[in-house]
Parts: sequence; structure tokens; C-alpha cells
Amino acid sequence: MNPSAVDLRSDTVTKPTAAMRAAMAQAEVGDDVFGDDPTVIALEARMAKLAGKEAALYVPSGTMGNQLAVNVLTRPADEVLLESQSHIYYYEQGGMAATSGLLAHPVHGERGVLPLDTLIAALRDPDDHVARVTLVCAENTHNRAGGAVVPLAKLQELARMARAHGLKLHLDGARLWNAHVATGVSIADYAACADTVMMCFSKGLGAPVGSILVGNAEHVRAARRVRKRWGGGMRQAGILAAACLHALDHHITRLADDHARAKRLAEGFQVPGATVIAPDTNIVFVDLAASLPDAKTLVAELEKRGVRMSAYGPRRVRAIAHLDVDDQGIERAIAAFREILTANALR
Ligand SMILES: Cc1ncc(COP(=O)(O)O)c(C=O)c1O
Repeated sequence: MNPSAVDLRSDTVTKPTAAMRAAMAQAEVGDDVFGDDPTVIALEARMAKLAGKEAALYVPSGTMGNQLAVNVLTRPADEVLLESQSHIYYYEQGGMAATSGLLAHPVHGERGVLPLDTLIAALRDPDDHVARVTLVCAENTHNRAGGAVVPLAKLQELARMARAHGLKLHLDGARLWNAHVATGVSIADYAACADTVMMCFSKGLGAPVGSILVGNAEHVRAARRVRKRWGGGMRQAGILAAACLHALDHHITRLADDHARAKRLAEGFQVPGATVIAPDTNIVFVDLAASLPDAKTLVAELEKRGVRMSAYGPRRVRAIAHLDVDDQGIERAIAAFREILTANALR
């Protein structure tokens, strides 16, 4: 791969900054499985406080955080309502069925917002013929809806509905930071809607590894036990947690730069035949008309020009702004994109 390429495939491609690496090198560590790592303990305490929850658990990935949440909030054979394009349903390999014995009930949402009437229609009276619907999962920001912010009022309505029907609510907040910076709504206000929330440090915040699961003490205790069973107990994990603490101090407010750069990309990508979905946060989707090259061809042509984007369907491409892309990189990406599509070089 070209090391000077502008890599817009994901906000997970960021590399730790020199200051982050220094913080990692200096981290005090211990054996976290014994509960001895002071840096992990500090990260978990800080995140529980930030989210207004009793406890937090540092986990290796967002996927593990989500899967732990659905595991501890349900019993095998329960049914889970979730958005049909959500990460938990779409990108976690049916993990909730494989590891927790759960039945997924996908529901189509609009820009990540789950329709309450459809959810309510999916509930059933207790009966020995049917599965128990016990959990609903939301995602904010919603990745496959283009980094869409789910408005707080919508999450609050969902939470009221869930409580009224005795359902638990898990929030996949891999990019809740972006929603927070885009709207000014606090992490705690979003988290108050849910029983458990997962947030990633390894996306827009630029840490190399790790996510957090927050919730009440009982759920987090249960998740800690299951994390160990799944092989996710890490020993001197403070070296990684130090990067996350550094990111909390230095990389939250700067997400506004990524959002501004995503807007600039969205402007620059306006060419005939390309439909750009206006970004709420750092993710830009472009749909390509049949008159244009398809997504794979466009991605291959961009690559030749030192720009990396993802094909997100046969005629959809995705670009994500992040810590390791500056204004110059954004302009390079726009120039390459326009050169390929406006000059129609391929036809
Ligand atoms: C919305 C969402 N949730 C969860 C995850 C999973 O995170 P990880 O890659 O750390 O497992 C991702 C990863 O891209 C994501 O976009």
C-alpha cells in the first residue's frame, strides 16, 4: 500500500500520535484480570462517571462490547428488536445467535431511527408458542445510515416505550462521541436512555485498541465474567487504556474538524450522476448513477491516484474523515474523485 495515500476507508485506520504513544509508554500497569491495573481502573471509573452509570468494563473491541451487552441483558431464546442495517445485526456474523442463543428481529429504520409503531407491533402477549421479546438495540451514530445522528428525543421516546413494555435497551455508541460533538448533547444524556452503552476508542478518538461497556453494577459484573469466558480478559491492558485516557483528554472536541471535512468532501463530491448523502458527522456516502463507473471500479481508480475509499454496495462508496486526514488530503481526495467521474476517463 502507498504510505502517502489519503486513507478514507474508515476512522479505524488512524495510528496513535506521538503524544499518545508517550502516554502509553508511561502507563502504570498491573494484571487486569486480577483487578490490579490502575490505568484500566482509572479508565473504567472515568467512563462510568462520564456516562452517568454505576460501572464500566474495558473490552478489546466494539463487537465484544455489543455482544457482551446483549448476552447479559437476555436469556437464551429471547428475541431482540434491532435496526436491519445496525452493526449488531449486519456486521457481527450472527454473533448474538451463535454466542447467546438469541433470535434477531430486524426492523427497518429511517436514518437510524427505529419506528415505535413497528416495534410495538412486534411485541406479543406471553404465550408458550412465542419467543420472549426482551431487548431492543439502538445505534448512534448509525454507520450504515451514513453516520446519522439519532436525535436525543427519538432515543428518549424509544427508552420510554422499552420501559413501558419491560424491555431492556442497549445502545451501540461506537461513534456516540461524534453525535455528542455534532449536537452538544452530553454522553450522559444519551446514556440515560439505555441500560447499557458501548463506546469505541479506536474509531474517531484515534486509540489503537479498545471499547467500553457501561451499565449498572450488576450488568457490568456479569459482562466481566462473560468477557473472561470469551477470552477477552487482558493482563497489562493499562498500556492500551492509557491511549484511551489520552484520547478522552485530547481527541474529543477535534471531532468537529472531521465533521467539517466530511461536509467539504460532500460538497466536492457533487458531480453529475453522483448523489451525496449530506453528512451529520464524519461519514460520507455517495451513490453512483448507472451512467458512472460502479463502486468497485471507482475505488480501484481512486487507489491508483493515492486515495482510498470503500465500496459500500455495488453503486455506493463511503469516505470517512478522521484524525489522520488533513485539509490537503481532503482536497486530494476530491480532486481524484472529480477527475475520475467528471472527465469520464473510463468510458
Ligand atoms: C456502529 C458500530 N458498532 C460496532 C462496531 C464494532 O467495533 P469493532 O470493530 O471494534 O469490533 C463498529 C465498527 O466499525 C461500528 O461501526
